[in-house]
Amino acid sequence: PRANIPVICIDGPTASGKGTIAAEVARRLGYGILDSGALYRIAGLAARRAGLDLDEAHEAEIATLVRELPIRFTPAQQILLGDEDIGAAIRSEAAGMDASRVSALPAVRQALLTLQWNFQTLPGLVADGRDMGTVIFPNAALKVYLLASAECRAERRYKQLISKGISANISALRADLEARDARDMSRSASPLKPAQDALLLDSSVLSIEEVVTQVLQWWQERQPFK
Ligand code: DC
Repeated sequence: PRANIPVICIDGPTASGKGTIAAEVARRLGYGILDSGALYRIAGLAARRAGLDLDEAHEAEIATLVRELPIRFTPAQQILLGDEDIGAAIRSEAAGMDASRVSALPAVRQALLTLQWNFQTLPGLVADGRDMGTVIFPNAALKVYLLASAECRAERRYKQLISKGISANISALRADLEARDARDMSRSASPLKPAQDALLLDSSVLSIEEVVTQVLQWWQERQPFK
């Protein structure tokens, strides 16, 4: 990581609203964005397509595969694997669970390190994930840990799916996200937890606008030259 390029980290559990908040904060500041979850989702998808089981026995093979993936993010926020737009394929609940599986493998995390650091470009970066503040950008000027109750996250995910015309079951969604949280928090490689210097923000009873405003206010308070 580079010391002179500002980074805002937004970490937290699944469906806590990180992606939405990170995208809006980045847009308002004119910063770039790192959707690190998308990288693990692509890793999971690629491993599946290669016919590999997503477990320790295949850790080295998956890591090698991941290092060679032709991943590109376009300025229009499309995610390409080679020439294929895989944005929709990696958004399913199953792809999230696969991502959580491969992300527990240390060699896979290692394989994605440089790629993530390369997102740190001027004028600044908003990084969304699980370990942005704890591992990837430990010197970031602002680290936010976004929380929301499981009930609230399941409800948001449910509405999101229904609005896209995808049928969903709210209690199944909640069980799924609690299982994913448990795996992400209990793994030994870069587990999900707030960085020591992270500011906690519970979005359960806040609107998107209120959360964005809070993050931008914290950011302003931390700008040494303003
Ligand atoms: O944020 P998301 O739902 O797209 O992330 C999918 C999975 O990827 C998540 O369950 C755990 C993993 N992940 C990770 O281990 N580290 C990150 N920085 C981001 C995601």
